[in-house]
Amino acid sequence: MSTKPVGTNQKLTDRQDNWWIEPLWTVISLGAFGIYTMYVAISETHFLYEGGGAHYLSPFYSVPIPGVHYENLSWLPFSPAFLFLWIPLGFRATCYYYRKAYYRAFFWDPPACAVPELKKTGYTGERAFPFILNNLHRYFWYLSLPVVAFLWYDAFRAFFFSNGAGGYQFGVSVGALVMLAGVLLISYYTFSCHAWRHIAGGCLNCMSKHKTRYGLWQRITHINEQHGFWAVVSMFGVWGVDLYIRLCSMGVITDIRFF
Ligand code: FES
Repeated sequence: MSTKPVGTNQKLTDRQDNWWIEPLWTVISLGAFGIYTMYVAISETHFLYEGGGAHYLSPFYSVPIPGVHYENLSWLPFSPAFLFLWIPLGFRATCYYYRKAYYRAFFWDPPACAVPELKKTGYTGERAFPFILNNLHRYFWYLSLPVVAFLWYDAFRAFFFSNGAGGYQFGVSVGALVMLAGVLLISYYTFSCHAWRHIAGGCLNCMSKHKTRYGLWQRITHINEQHGFWAVVSMFGVWGVDLYIRLCSMGVITDIRFF
């Protein structure tokens, strides 16, 4: 399969399939998610639902510090969401899956296999600013751990409903299950990370001498094989959880409590 230069009257590529669908889908989905995230963070509205004694907090407003609630941060001159949102956003922006996706879709660098790049010169890969920052991914992984832990706390908290007398009662509702599903997807995404797989099993000359790390590496490898899938569905999971809470808070939909 041959390719021909861009910017001439020749064909872009000899590929006959619809190779452009994947980059187009990436532009639409990532672009929409980015716009939605900025809107949610700036608006500071409908991120908490407390109807019927529930307590559903949007993942965009979860504060990963023990004892600190978003209300403690209302004195900030900007939305509290921005205080920690850079961690999950930085984690996703430096993720190997998303790097491939946005290099292809947004920068056409190149857009697909056997399709030429737009820019022919000056390629520096990830050795120059700003893309050299992608090497920080493993550190974003470390920073993401408390974020995921607090999302688990928020999901757990969603199963306890205020009884109106200062106490709490265990219950199961659609909202609580939505929050549980959201944090499960984020956990699969976080713990299928390539950097985590390397932390577990990298830099070992002989795996058989490190049975615990080898066992962990094998388990991570099992879910790492679908890392791209977890990257996409967890993004829609976060989106869906926030949207569910938002629509409940706005009165557009009614949360159903089973017991
Ligand atoms: Fe995707 Fe680490 S490689 S989260």
